[in-house]
Amino acid sequence: MRILVVGSGGREHAIIRKLKESPKVDKIYAAPGNGGISKDAECINISAMDKEGIVAFSKENAVDLVFVAPDDPLADGMVDTLTANGIRAFGPRANAAVIESSKVFSKNLMKKYGIPTAEYETFSEPEKAVEYIEKRGHFPVVIKADGLALGKGVIIAKTMTEAKAAVKEIMEDKKFGDSGNNVVVEEFLTGPEVSVLAFTDGIALKPMVSSKDHKRAYDNDEGLNTGGMGTISPNPYYTDEIAEICRKTIFEPTVAAMNSENRTFKGCLYFGLMITPDGPKVIEYNARFGDPETQVVLPRLKTDLVDIIEAVIDERLSHIDIKWSDEATACVVMASGGYPLAYKKGLEITGLDENGQVEGAEVFHAGTKLEHGKFLTNGGRVLGVTGKGKTLDEALEKAYSAVKKINFENVHYRTDIGKTK
Ligand code: AMP
Ligand code: GLY
Repeated sequence: MRILVVGSGGREHAIIRKLKESPKVDKIYAAPGNGGISKDAECINISAMDKEGIVAFSKENAVDLVFVAPDDPLADGMVDTLTANGIRAFGPRANAAVIESSKVFSKNLMKKYGIPTAEYETFSEPEKAVEYIEKRGHFPVVIKADGLALGKGVIIAKTMTEAKAAVKEIMEDKKFGDSGNNVVVEEFLTGPEVSVLAFTDGIALKPMVSSKDHKRAYDNDEGLNTGGMGTISPNPYYTDEIAEICRKTIFEPTVAAMNSENRTFKGCLYFGLMITPDGPKVIEYNARFGDPETQVVLPRLKTDLVDIIEAVIDERLSHIDIKWSDEATACVVMASGGYPLAYKKGLEITGLDENGQVEGAEVFHAGTKLEHGKFLTNGGRVLGVTGKGKTLDEALEKAYSAVKKINFENVHYRTDIGKTK
């Protein structure tokens, strides 16, 4: 098979590494990929948003399957366009990807179908949002931009002053562009967070092994929210009992709700959950694999990923048995100093061997480019270093010892992955 993976981050690198293990795969392309990915796949200079370009390339190069990994092209209908052109594609159609691209949609869906989530109201006018927050008079309060915002469109306001500033930033200053035309104002929940990615063909749903993302930029969960600074799998707070409650009250009802709305979801559905004192609740849905969750989940997958993808597309997921390794994994993200705000690019990365790998751990490239045989930084999140072990401590030890061998100017990583709630 000839497979094209759309995207360019650490998640895509982890997907490509897993696809490479399949005996069914002859050739992998990445559009556009990155420096590290170019060691594992042929990178083609087509943007992840260029639907026509991807279709034309797939036809010219007899691509058998396109894996659309990022949120933007999914929300923009990449899978719809590919399918209309007779090209097999993995990922939800735009009308289902809306479960991630509009928080107003997903909150209303959960309310309508009784899926547990934080209480909320939605607003299209900043004055009304502020008035509501004032009347509610209860802090902290959570304010979210409706649309996609690279995981950064959520503000937890501890005072009325902060809440007003958040509404202004999102709705008036348009910090996240049109994503801030509407906002969701919701109840602040507490408890450990769990990420559960699940394969679904719209009929069956098969959860993958659980994980935990560390979203804040600095140790002790301080600093701004980022796309994710590190992950572990399994998530110690996700017990079998909680998993069963999630299956009954969240996972299966979500698949059924999307079907009832004529928005059948096929692909990877990501549940961002919080285990609150009142039970598990949905914080957010994503319409895709998480980043950096993929970098700890897929290394534990033992079943051929191509078989699973084909089963999802052909709606026979219930017939396949998906096996996972019992080992633990941990991923530490090495970021550019300053991320998620401004940072420098083009800095040389040292300590990677020529294949971009370090012994005992696996290095996934997120924001790198390859120039004259050298890897340079090219994004906020630069590398994700995953360790594997019999226990979480062993996995963390492997990841951190590999991290310590790698360096670039102003490198920043959290030293407490796996240690905080
Ligand atoms: P989201 O992009 O919706 O996943 O939100 C980003 C992060 O903000 C989450 O991972 C949580 O840590 C936090 N967060 C979002 N919603 C809430 C909430 N209702 N209560 C407490 N924390 C939240
Ligand atoms: N790591 C969170 C996400 O992929 O949205």
